[in-house]
Amino acid sequence: MTYRMTQQIDCMRNGLKTNMIDQKAQDYFYKNVWQSNIHLFKHSGENLIKEINKTEPKFVIDAGCALNFFKGKIPNLVGYDPVFKEADIVCGHFDAPFKPECADVILALGSINWGDHDDIANMLIKVKSWLKPGGRLYMRGAPGGYKSDKGLQWFQWGMKQIHEFARLMDFDVEWCELEYNLTGPNGGTLPERLWPHRYVWLYRRKLIK
Ligand SMILES: C[S@@+](CC[C@H](N)C(=O)[O-])C[C@H]1O[C@@H](n2cnc3c(N)ncnc32)[C@H](O)[C@@H]1O
Repeated sequence: MTYRMTQQIDCMRNGLKTNMIDQKAQDYFYKNVWQSNIHLFKHSGENLIKEINKTEPKFVIDAGCALNFFKGKIPNLVGYDPVFKEADIVCGHFDAPFKPECADVILALGSINWGDHDDIANMLIKVKSWLKPGGRLYMRGAPGGYKSDKGLQWFQWGMKQIHEFARLMDFDVEWCELEYNLTGPNGGTLPERLWPHRYVWLYRRKLIK
């Protein structure tokens, strides 16, 4: 099936199981092991508030928002997450109830990061369906996980994959930065992480359909 065909049947994907993702293991990990460190990020934390607010978006979705860090800091923002009660809506990507092309900005910071190529494509197709043409999708992707993250399959995000999915999804890559924790032991990474770096980038939905 071509990418354009999968776009047509996007609405039928709700309820479909993802390929390689163990959602129960993920939920356990984020609830019991993982700790938010969004305050340590240079490119995908506090800095995004000013950057996003200057575009005066009418509707912003924080996909996989965890503690809903941006709530009240970015107006018109709704956050969803399958695990955290701080979310406005407790659900995952495939159950989130948004209308097509409703959002000017979507944040998917660390929340499209598991499974195989098809899992990532399915999640991107889903979030893209809510994005207005010309809209912005801020992404953070880690190429590896933590020492104690049994059951999680991390997608190996890198520059090649970022550009490959841009072509597949009809996105432009507006910018891309390496993201390290600003403070912490081992020269700025957290001790439990297998790799010190992550990627942060901005996908812009092309104006073509
Ligand atoms: C690395 S954390 C990032 C949280 C937050 N965006 C941040 O930057 O601090 C990944 C988040 O994705 C959420 N998540 C896991 N599975 C998800 C799914 N299927 N749909 C949406 N979010 C999911 C987790 O519960 C977790 O809060």
